[in-house]
Formats: sequence, C-alpha cells, structure tokens
Amino acid sequence: MSFRALILGAAAGGGLPQWNCGCDNCNKARAGQIPAQTQSSLAVTANGRDWAVLNASPDIRHQLAAATPLHPTGLRDMPLGAVLVTNGDIDHVAGLLTLREVQPFTLFATAGIHDVLAANPMLDALNPAVVDRETIALNTPFDLVPGLTAELFPVPGKVPLYMEGETVETDLMGDQTVGVELRADGKRVLYIPGCACLNDDLRARISGADLLFFDGTLWSDDEMQRCGLGQKTGKRMGHMSMSGDDGSLAAFAGIDVGRKIYVHMNNSNPVLDPASTERANAEATGWTIGQDQMEIAL
Ligand code: MLT
Ligand code: MN
Ligand code: ZN
Repeated sequence: MSFRALILGAAAGGGLPQWNCGCDNCNKARAGQIPAQTQSSLAVTANGRDWAVLNASPDIRHQLAAATPLHPTGLRDMPLGAVLVTNGDIDHVAGLLTLREVQPFTLFATAGIHDVLAANPMLDALNPAVVDRETIALNTPFDLVPGLTAELFPVPGKVPLYMEGETVETDLMGDQTVGVELRADGKRVLYIPGCACLNDDLRARISGADLLFFDGTLWSDDEMQRCGLGQKTGKRMGHMSMSGDDGSLAAFAGIDVGRKIYVHMNNSNPVLDPASTERANAEATGWTIGQDQMEIAL
C-alpha cells in the first residue's frame, strides 16, 4: 500500500490554451512552445487498484484516456471507485456529464455542493441506480476508496460564479468550497485547489503534511487586468495569488510541508512558462509547478 497521485489537469477553468484567449501563454501553448494543460483534476489511490478522482473537469474524457492506470480492465470495468468535488464550479463539475455512461461510482460532496448539483437537471443523467451520491459532513473522516481515508474541511471561498448574486462574499467559510485531507499508510496529503486566504485553522491543518496541492490560480492579484484579460482581481475570484505580501509563497514560507505543488493555474499565470523568472522564483522557495500527467508517489 502506498499513496499515489496523478495530476489529470493542472490548469484552472479555461485550460491552457483557452479556446478564446490570445494571451502570450495561450499563444505559446498553441504553438507548442510551452506545454498545454487541461482543467483542474487530481486522481489518487492508496493501492494502485482503486482510484478516486478529485474534481471532474470538462476535460475528463481526454484526461482518462491519457491516464494509463485508470484505463478499463474489462469490458465495462475500470478502476474508478469515487469522484469527489470540492466546489460547484464548472471546471470541477462539468465532467460529471461525461461520466454518465452507466459506470458505478460514488459521488462524494458536502450537502451544500450536492444541493448545487441537484439543482441542475442535466446531471440527472448520472443514473442514481449506479451513481450513489453520498453527502459528507465537514471535518468527519470517511473511506474514499479502499485504503484511503478522506476528510473535507472548509476553505475560504465563494459560491460558484453562475450562482453569484448582487453581493458576493469571497472568503465565505462553509461547505460551498472545501479542501480534502487524505490519509493513507501513515501519510497525510492535502488538496486545496481554490483558497481565498490562509487562516489559522488552515495553517494548522497544513502544517506537517507530507504533500500539499494548492491553489496556484494567479501569480499576482491584478494579473487579469494587467494582461488585458478582464476586470476581476484574484481576490474577487476567491483565489489568493502566489506573489505579494499576502500571497501563498510568503504565507507558506514558515510552514513545514514535505512537498508543495501548485495546481489550478490560470492560463494568464507566468509560471506556466517553464522559462519564466516567476517559475524559477516559485521553485527557489520549494514549490513545484504541477503539470498534466505528473505523478507523485509517497
Ligand atoms: C474559479 O476557479 O474561480 C472558477 O472555476 C471560475 C469559473 O467558474 O470559471
Ligand atoms: Mn476553477
Ligand atoms: Zn490565455
């Protein structure tokens, strides 16, 4: 028994390249000058046979085709036992529509996230006779797949973009945005693909973890504006940036974590270019920039 994680998609919503984006990174990815990345998803296992997928991205069909350990082992057998979603964002749930081909698995989420999914009739395509929707209470361990225990915990965030009202609280603590703590074989792994800010509770939980996957959406809070891609700041989107006094590079400097990997990078993030000084800076402080098909074994 040993923990393995396979990054199915390292990019944030939109992916790299994003279909309608002509930013430097997207153009370079289209030209094959930097690696393309698909949208946010992580596969995990503790025994190499039973896998869970954390977040079902719109790219899941290609991601599963590229993920050899998750290929079918029989006519209609494949090693996917569970899908868990950490919020209701489209980049994390739209792939559920692709998983409608009568394949048994358990769909884990909090009550708040299940409510969002249940409000979408298109997702009734996931046949309840084979897809069991299980509601998970916060801070309560459960068996995700054999050998792998998980626990969901609140992370500062907001409701999905498509459910935003007139006023939006961007660092809401509740069951709309969660992180996942995984335990297997004495190891502790944290998966937090979206996080508005690091509070004391999170800092305490992350401290001493063997492996961390963390929100790498933006390099700087005003990146979208400076790239001419939109008006929203990272904070408005519910994501803390990597750089700056209140960024994740600074926030994690004093926290003891075995291995730190950024995931959920927006296509505007300069770290997606392997030759960028920003990537060199992040790596110099002990971070790895995640990428599609990167595998980590503990
Ligand atoms: C986010 O991570 O902020 C969302 O995925 C944005 C979106 O819904 O496109
Ligand atoms: Mn996202
Ligand atoms: Zn772009």
